Amino acid sequence: MSAEGSSTGKPERAASRNADDRWAEFDSEAYFQHYYGEPHPDDDCVIRLAVAAMKSALPLGTELDMVDVGTGPNLISLFCALPRAHRLTVWEYAESNITWLEAELARDVMRPQWSHFWNVVREAYLPEFDLPEDPIPILRERCHLRRGSIFDLPTRRWQAATMFYCAESITDRQDEFEAACAAFARCVRRGGTLAAAFLARSTGYAVNESCYPALSLSVESAVDAFAPYADGLRAEAVAREHQVRSGYSGFIFLTGTAR
Ligand SMILES: C[S@@+](CC[C@H](N)C(=O)[O-])C[C@H]1O[C@@H](n2cnc3c(N)ncnc32)[C@H](O)[C@@H]1O
Repeated sequence: MSAEGSSTGKPERAASRNADDRWAEFDSEAYFQHYYGEPHPDDDCVIRLAVAAMKSALPLGTELDMVDVGTGPNLISLFCALPRAHRLTVWEYAESNITWLEAELARDVMRPQWSHFWNVVREAYLPEFDLPEDPIPILRERCHLRRGSIFDLPTRRWQAATMFYCAESITDRQDEFEAACAAFARCVRRGGTLAAAFLARSTGYAVNESCYPALSLSVESAVDAFAPYADGLRAEAVAREHQVRSGYSGFIFLTGTAR
């Protein structure tokens, strides 16, 4: 299944402000199929970067109370956090994605794509962690699904936080992007780890019949958005010459500690 195009011609353009209620119609399965139906080497790369950040999250040697923001129809960020989390809050805005995640966590047998991504996570956690073949039962136990907006995150609530393709993929407004990054950075206690993946230089993406906005982002603008709220910021970027998936032609991965 493809998330691009539609039988009626061009996809309709949603408004670019986040407060567009089209999130309620977000086609979770179409999104999953288009973005994660066929694993791409960039996904594995993002996983390794996220796991490196999670492995070094303080305090070491303990399990943390963590959050993932804008999880969407994707378990990858949860897989990356799971080995360090005794509790993992899933903070997602679209009702359709919450329902999809509930169903995904209720499955007896995980999809082959999740097996692939989980194996990349397992390898990246070696040699310190010996992880089970199937993460779903533990994920089910530790995940708490919350329907909420990034702009309404509580402050200083969690010990570490992840966010994959959310703050820059929910708006094309610089002020909203900055507010989303600020809310994300401030939901973690001082010294807590922040790890976030962003679309690089995207101008939006299509999911089935609808287009969604994105803010075209450079490494510098991602770092600038976090600089007032985080220390030790490090960014890695991968740029692809051609679009790999709708709106995706590379990523920026940012880590830091909440100030
Ligand atoms: C591009 S998708 C990313 C999904 C997933 N994290 C991934 O890595 O593929 C953007 C996600 O942000 C969610 N979202 C939209 N507005 C939001 C808001 N105000 N607060 C939190 N999440 C929001 C969408 O429902 C969607 O799941």
